[in-house]
Amino acid sequence: MEYRNLGQWGVKLSTIGLGSYLTIGMHVDDDTAAECIRMAFDGGVNWIDTANAYNRGEAEKALGRLLKDYDRDDYVLATKVWAPMGDGPNDRGLSAKHVFEQCNASLRRLETDYIDLYQCHRPDPETPLEETIRVMDDLARQGKIIYWGVSEWDAALIQEACDLATMMGCRPPVSNQPRYSLMWRRPESLVFPTCLRNGLGNVVFSPLAHGVLTGKYEPGAKPPEGTRAADDSMNKIMMDLYWDEENLRKVREMEEMAGDLGLTCAQLAMAWCLENAAVTSVITGVTKLSQLEDNLGAANAMIPADVLTKLDRMFPGPKATDAP
Ligand SMILES: NC(=O)c1ccc[n+]([C@@H]2O[C@H](COP(=O)([O-])OP(=O)(O)OC[C@H]3O[C@@H](n4cnc5c(N)ncnc54)[C@H](OP(=O)(O)O)[C@@H]3O)[C@@H](O)[C@H]2O)c1
Repeated sequence: MEYRNLGQWGVKLSTIGLGSYLTIGMHVDDDTAAECIRMAFDGGVNWIDTANAYNRGEAEKALGRLLKDYDRDDYVLATKVWAPMGDGPNDRGLSAKHVFEQCNASLRRLETDYIDLYQCHRPDPETPLEETIRVMDDLARQGKIIYWGVSEWDAALIQEACDLATMMGCRPPVSNQPRYSLMWRRPESLVFPTCLRNGLGNVVFSPLAHGVLTGKYEPGAKPPEGTRAADDSMNKIMMDLYWDEENLRKVREMEEMAGDLGLTCAQLAMAWCLENAAVTSVITGVTKLSQLEDNLGAANAMIPADVLTKLDRMFPGPKATDAP
C-alpha cells in the first residue's frame, strides 16, 4: 500500500480508503462490515470515510461499534456535515449552530473523542462562508476535529474559502471530496488545478461509477439481482450518470485491456484515478469481502503509458462546455 500526504499537509493517507455510503450500517451487516474493516486494515488501508447523513447516523453508529477493536491512533477517521438530519430549519447546512451540534452528535455516534477530517458535504449558499470557516477553526481549537475539508465544492468556492481562511487567520480546508472516475472527469478542468494551487488533497468518491466500471453489467441485459443497479431505491444516480449501452460496451473493452495487464476492470479503474497528481486517495465502497479483496489490488497496479492513452480516448476528459 502506498501512503500519500493529504495535499500539502502532514497527514498521510493510504491511496485506498474505505467508505460507508449505502453499505456499513445499512445494506452490509455488522459481521461482514467487521470482516471488511479487518481486511482493509490488514491490507494497509489507514482511513475510513463516512457522513452523519449516511442512513441518518446509522453508518457512524456502526463504525463506532466496529472500530472499538482498533487503536484510535492507527487510523484516520473522516465524516461529513451538511445534509438534513431532521425536519427543523436548523437541522441541515453549514451554520455554526448545526456544524457545532452535528460535530458533537457525530462524536457520540462514532464513540470517539475527535474526528480527523471533518468535511462539508456540499456548499451551503444560505450561510456566510466566514461562519463555516470560523466554526471549523473553533472545533479544531476545542480538539474535536483535526482537519476540515469540503466535498463537491466548485473551484471558485474552494478558492474563496482558502483566501478567506487566510485573511481570518483560520485553518484553511485541507481536502476536497469530488466524484471522480473514468466516467466522470469534470474535476480535471478547474477543481483539481485549484486544489493543487492551494495545497488541498482530493479523496475521490465513486471511482467505479457505482459498480459500472467493474464489468459486472452486461450490455443489453438486465442488471443481476442483488447489485446496486438492480435496486431502484439506490440506483438513481447510477442510472442518470453512467448507465447506457455505449458505456457498458466500453467497459467490456476495458476488461480485456485490464486482463492483458493481469488486472481486473475494477483495479484498472481505481488505479487510473490514482494516476492524477491531484488525487491523494480513492474511496472504495463494497458490499462483499470479495469486492474489497479485488479493489485493494488497485493499490499496487501500474498502468503503462499506452494503456493510459487508450483509456483517455475511450473516456475523454471534460469539454470546455461541461459544468465544473
Ligand atoms: N462526498 C459524497 O458526496 C459521496 C458520495 C458518494 C460516495 N461517497 C463516499 O465514497 C465511497 C465510495 O462511493 P461509491 O460506493 O459510490 O463507490 P463505487 O466504487 O463507485 O461503487 C461501489 C459499489 O460498486 C460495487 N462494487 C464495488 N467493488 C466491486 C467489485 N470489485 N466488483 C463488483 N462490484 C463492486 C458495490 O455495489 P453492489 O455490490 O451493491 O453492486 C459497491 O457498493 C462511499 O462509500 C462514501 O464513503 C461520498
